[in-house]
Amino acid sequence: MRIDIVTIFPEFFDVLDLSLLGKARQSGLIELGVHNLRDHTHDRHHSVDDTPYGGGAGMVMKAEPWGAALDAILGAAPEAVATEAVATDAAAVATEAAATETPTAVNAADDGPILIFPSPAGAQFTQAMARELSLEQHLIFGCGRYEGIDQRVVDHYEARGRVRLVSLGDYVLNGGEVAVMAMIEAIGRLIPGVVGNPESLVEESHEDGLLEYPSYTKPSSWRGLDVPPVLLSGNHGAISTWRRQQQIERTERVRPDLMPPDLLPPANAKQSPS
Ligand code: ADE
Repeated sequence: MRIDIVTIFPEFFDVLDLSLLGKARQSGLIELGVHNLRDHTHDRHHSVDDTPYGGGAGMVMKAEPWGAALDAILGAAPEAVATEAVATDAAAVATEAAATETPTAVNAADDGPILIFPSPAGAQFTQAMARELSLEQHLIFGCGRYEGIDQRVVDHYEARGRVRLVSLGDYVLNGGEVAVMAMIEAIGRLIPGVVGNPESLVEESHEDGLLEYPSYTKPSSWRGLDVPPVLLSGNHGAISTWRRQQQIERTERVRPDLMPPDLLPPANAKQSPS
């Protein structure tokens, strides 16, 4: 998978050299490009933001540097993307693209890259979304700051390909960088080969809609707390049943909103009016 990130804080992503994702980069499973938005400005101060039209607090990120940065990643001048989008002779376009070795443009027709803008106004990022995105060839993340990015950037690329606004959760971060780090870790570990033992991906929280069961290791007794005896029994059927029960109990207690309706306990007969 190819991942490109546009940000005003490229150093933020230095940590992607570490751990499993660092190894995945070394082995070529993940190819990463981090791009400084300020490299696409032309004024003396390399400014990327300006005051909002209509007034209000804060600053808005300017469309021009974003357009230049994203076009550079897509390898197509804005005109080239537009021409491709309206071209009627598909064969001629394909030949021309091959001749000039134009990298894939954001284009729904050929399932090109997905452009992802982290935003508290986006759709909720979930394990299902991480799994879906882990199947893609090319993700481009645009990290907004301040009061967000000029809406026309989203509109422009949405008209030409696949764009998503994605939220990490119902709270506000100072910018998209932390959200992108979290998304890349969640997506990256689902790419085959990134996590050494793929079985460890199967029985974790959210994979089957429930939270995961509690885990224990040696010693069997610690500070007066014993490992549940069933886990020492060697009875695999009993262990499976216990773990499933723990998942259900934990999900019901901590995240009742995730409980599948068929696993909800039957309504308490005593409480219902007769
Ligand atoms: N940027 C600021 N807050 C965010 C959030 N909750 N999710 C994604 N990106 C953000």
